[in-house]
Amino acid sequence: MTDAGRPQRVIVGAAEAVRELRTLRDLLRWAVSRFEAAGLAYGHGTDNAWDEAVSLLLYALHLPPDRLDPWLDARLSRGEREMATALVERRIVTRAPAAYLTGEAWLRGLRFLCDERALVPRSPIAEALDETLAQWLDVHRPDAAFDPGAVLDLCTGGGSLAIFAAHLFPHAAVVGADLSEDALALATANASLHGLDERIEWVRSDLFASIGARRFDLVVCNPPYVNDASMRALPPEFRAEPHDALAGGRDGMDLVRRIVVGARSHLTGDGLLILEIGHEAEHFEAAFPTIEFHYLPTAAGEQLLVLIEAAALPLPA
Ligand SMILES: C[S@@+](CC[C@H](N)C(=O)[O-])C[C@H]1O[C@@H](n2cnc3c(N)ncnc32)[C@H](O)[C@@H]1O
Repeated sequence: MTDAGRPQRVIVGAAEAVRELRTLRDLLRWAVSRFEAAGLAYGHGTDNAWDEAVSLLLYALHLPPDRLDPWLDARLSRGEREMATALVERRIVTRAPAAYLTGEAWLRGLRFLCDERALVPRSPIAEALDETLAQWLDVHRPDAAFDPGAVLDLCTGGGSLAIFAAHLFPHAAVVGADLSEDALALATANASLHGLDERIEWVRSDLFASIGARRFDLVVCNPPYVNDASMRALPPEFRAEPHDALAGGRDGMDLVRRIVVGARSHLTGDGLLILEIGHEAEHFEAAFPTIEFHYLPTAAGEQLLVLIEAAALPLPA
């Protein structure tokens, strides 16, 4: 059916939903209809209207985020229906990512505090550290155990990757660096939430500028890499995030160039740089035609992350 052929009042408003609907299943169906009609954009932890509705409604009802089935046909009180529908309406009216409305985001089972001071955590680097890196190491360094003593999360934002690395590599001293004081304040709160105050040092730094002469076995980095044309086309949900967390200049490579040029001085001899480049693989390959690198595939895509060994990086000028 074309939009022109749709019945005019197929989508009911929140007040009618509170009055007429009864179960969580009812409300989920209603929320999906509302989201579809509103043309929302996804990409901050979910990629479709159903998952977005599930995460928002479970949050509103104070239910665990990872279990839906037991509650689907539970009847909701009027107060619960009011709270849940209000959150759905806020998502539509504000066009803010759900995580900014709830104040929390989940990345591979870890909970992070989340607000407008930093990007909503969603980097596939977490999955790479958990899974793909081990596969790469099996192939390329089968004889050596990878147990980094020092890890740097450059462009750490709210600190999710630094915290993820601290959990994953219990022997590592972890540094998280960012230019934004606001983001680092959020990262500090997240470290406390995870009981990692003693394990992670937060540094305000323009890329490597305030890192001194320190070297790391692993540098992970999700820098701003969105090219100018893509920035202009961003849906409102992404415009709600800090501009400086996303914008990477004409070809998206402004920060990436500086990182690739600076990284070798901050890596140990067999250190690794894992860099997120999003959908900018073409621009990355054009910017670095002679550097030997490896794509690290993740569920989100084959060419969103690159791994570069220290020896393949340019020597310091
Ligand atoms: C794409 S966000 C990544 C945040 C976090 N690592 C994540 O994956 O969710 C990029 C981060 O880079 C920071 N940033 C931008 N320019 C920077 C610079 N010159 N030096 C250090 N950090 C910078 C931004 O403040 C932002 O927090």
